[in-house]
Amino acid sequence: MNESYALITGSSSGIGLEIAYYLAEKGFNLILTARRDGLLKNISKDISSKYKVKVDFISSDLSKKEAPNEIFEYCNSKNYFVEILINNAGYGIVAPLHESSMEDEEKCIRVLSISVIALTKLFIPIMMEKGGGKIMIVSSIAAFAPPSAIQSLYGPTKTFVNRFSEAVNLNYNKNGISSTAVCPGYTVTNFHTASGVQDEMDRVPKFLKKSAKRIAIEGVNAMLKGKAICVPTKTWKIIAFLISSVPQSVFKILSSFIAPGRFNK
Ligand SMILES: NC(=O)c1ccc[n+]([C@@H]2O[C@H](COP(=O)([O-])OP(=O)(O)OC[C@H]3O[C@@H](n4cnc5c(N)ncnc54)[C@H](OP(=O)(O)O)[C@@H]3O)[C@@H](O)[C@H]2O)c1
Repeated sequence: MNESYALITGSSSGIGLEIAYYLAEKGFNLILTARRDGLLKNISKDISSKYKVKVDFISSDLSKKEAPNEIFEYCNSKNYFVEILINNAGYGIVAPLHESSMEDEEKCIRVLSISVIALTKLFIPIMMEKGGGKIMIVSSIAAFAPPSAIQSLYGPTKTFVNRFSEAVNLNYNKNGISSTAVCPGYTVTNFHTASGVQDEMDRVPKFLKKSAKRIAIEGVNAMLKGKAICVPTKTWKIIAFLISSVPQSVFKILSSFIAPGRFNK
């Protein structure tokens, strides 16, 4: 096991893509993964041409049970030491709970959480052997908020991965391994189109929408410092504080004005 790499899931667009560019700027070698092979190839070429880092990619569908193992085996076959694991891939289910199929719910939960656990479990032993590593889980402000009327299981799944991140810290900080749960608010990416909620996103006031680049920079810096939780941007730090201090019924009423669609269907 030789050179160190950062493995980033969901690095073909949005927050994951910006994390890839920011880590390359900082001199980290990269392994990119997502489903869109052509995009990953072009991104790898572009990053390699701009920064003095090694970039490789493996296309993989994390809704499939075997995907984490395939990614792990690929890294082993290339002798890559994954010193940084960024669990970022994600989307929300377009249909409401009573209309979605159980298969679609399971696939989404697998991408958002089971694959996160699987990849973490696979890469932690090597991090322990090497004396340390960094893990990031791109969660969401939804982890702290009441569950939304749209995408019923998205928030609860993000709460789950936050608790999982805490468990990793509790058990592996002593081995030099830290896990950072990055919890962004509304971020301008392909997420809302991919998750069928672009109309709701269009109604959100501009001051609440942050760029993926900002989220990536704040998230990566928090991860490198070994912070347990990161809520990027001052605006969303204040909102996270309000969510924890204002009664949920009041929060839902406030939200129905500033972010219609989440709690008023
Ligand atoms: N945008 C927001 O407002 C927001 C807010 C809070 C948290 N988040 C979280 O941020 C993370 C990144 O989302 P984003 O906003 O950057 O959205 P995005 O631009 O849609 O990016 C999502 C990434 O996940 C990948 N992905 C989706 N399904 C996948 C699958 N089955 N297997 C492997 N990769 C898959 C996509 O690549 P392929 O399509 O090529 O597979 C893409 O690279 C997600 O975990 C999301 O929950 C987003």
